[in-house]
Amino acid sequence: MGDELKSNGNLIIKNAAELVTCRGFAAKKGSEMSNLHVIPDGTIVIEDGIIRSVGRTAEIMRNLDVSHYEVIDALDRAVLPGFVDSHTHFIFGGYRAEEFSWRLQGMSYMDIMAQGGGIANTVEATRKATKEELIDLGKKRLDSMLAFGVTTVEGKSGYGLDHDTEIKQLVAMGDLDAAHPIDIARTFLGAHAVPGDYRGNEDGFIEYLIQEVLPAVAHKNLAEFCDIFCEKGVFSVNQSRRLLENARSFGLQLKIHADEITPMGGTELAVELGAISADHLLHASDNGIQRMAQTGTVATLLPITAFSLKEPYARARFMIDNGCAVALATDFNPGSCFSESIPLLFSLATIYMGMTSEESVTALTINGAAALGREKSIGSLDVGKKGDAVILEFPSYRYLPYHIGVNCVEKVIKKGRIVVDRNKKRG
Ligand code: NIG
Ligand code: FE
Repeated sequence: MGDELKSNGNLIIKNAAELVTCRGFAAKKGSEMSNLHVIPDGTIVIEDGIIRSVGRTAEIMRNLDVSHYEVIDALDRAVLPGFVDSHTHFIFGGYRAEEFSWRLQGMSYMDIMAQGGGIANTVEATRKATKEELIDLGKKRLDSMLAFGVTTVEGKSGYGLDHDTEIKQLVAMGDLDAAHPIDIARTFLGAHAVPGDYRGNEDGFIEYLIQEVLPAVAHKNLAEFCDIFCEKGVFSVNQSRRLLENARSFGLQLKIHADEITPMGGTELAVELGAISADHLLHASDNGIQRMAQTGTVATLLPITAFSLKEPYARARFMIDNGCAVALATDFNPGSCFSESIPLLFSLATIYMGMTSEESVTALTINGAAALGREKSIGSLDVGKKGDAVILEFPSYRYLPYHIGVNCVEKVIKKGRIVVDRNKKRG
């Protein structure tokens, strides 16, 4: 019995002051985002990595033979679903600390890009890096995310802008998915910037991606999603439509970096194409927001990027009041947002975007899962879902935004196994 079974994803977490279930198998829209379905004094049972029962401790523990399980006593602690960071660019070579100091002196993100820096800088370094180097860097970054309670992450390519490097990034993420506790959803973002040799011939670059790169990505099954940076001076709405329609015909689901710096109508395009999410949305129009609410395209908001670029925050309150499903994600990348900090994300969403603590938790769990099409298998503590959970060192989810900028995740559980235990580390 015992050890073998115990290490096999059989786990009971009992006596949680709050078992924050986020119950549901679909994205939560508008006012639904406020209900976290909290069970006081709750217990969850995970078997073979899958959640088998969820309820009040007294009921669940009655007649349960605990000998086949590892048992965690979560007395005075809140237990939540593992967080889903549904928008990151975590595979890249090199850093851009120098550009950050230029921005502190008043240069804008787009100015730096227009002068040949920005994404192009990271492209150069990523092209030079070997797959193994990208994997080593990626592993360290995933470890950091895991310690913040992230159990599923989306990662984008987009620092290659050519066949070989885009593929190298996606394969590196696939290898990491197999090797690391965090599950990785991959996105092909070949249209992240215009490479130097195509400047002035953006249409030609889109055709290159469609002819040479997209088919390889799709046939080798290297990505679930296709994304594009639809932005003034990068790719137009028409160019975005052209690439994304082709991606859809290859079976990829669609995402868009939409209305981030300039209002372009990227939000409307996301709705028109049935994108699974539209991301950033700092300048999304009222009409675009109302249409997202009607169609169910998830509005993925990235407040750490707005903070870091000193741009206005997306209108989260207006979106939720109009019935949108809002997800929150870090946008971790070496340029606009060099941060994977979940605590900072919670604080910015609540303090600056008018989201409640409940809405923010929904946005980082079930709605993050929905932005990845995984709402049936992760994002809530429901029977049949993966046993992915975080245990806080405090009795309530309300401490997440309240403890500003500080990690209050004590343990992280992935498929019923303890993968982070900060108590142990501290000895
Ligand atoms: O989401 N806006 C485009 N892409 C990223 C930034 C990438 C970078 O600067 O390296 C973003 O902000
Ligand atoms: Fe991004």
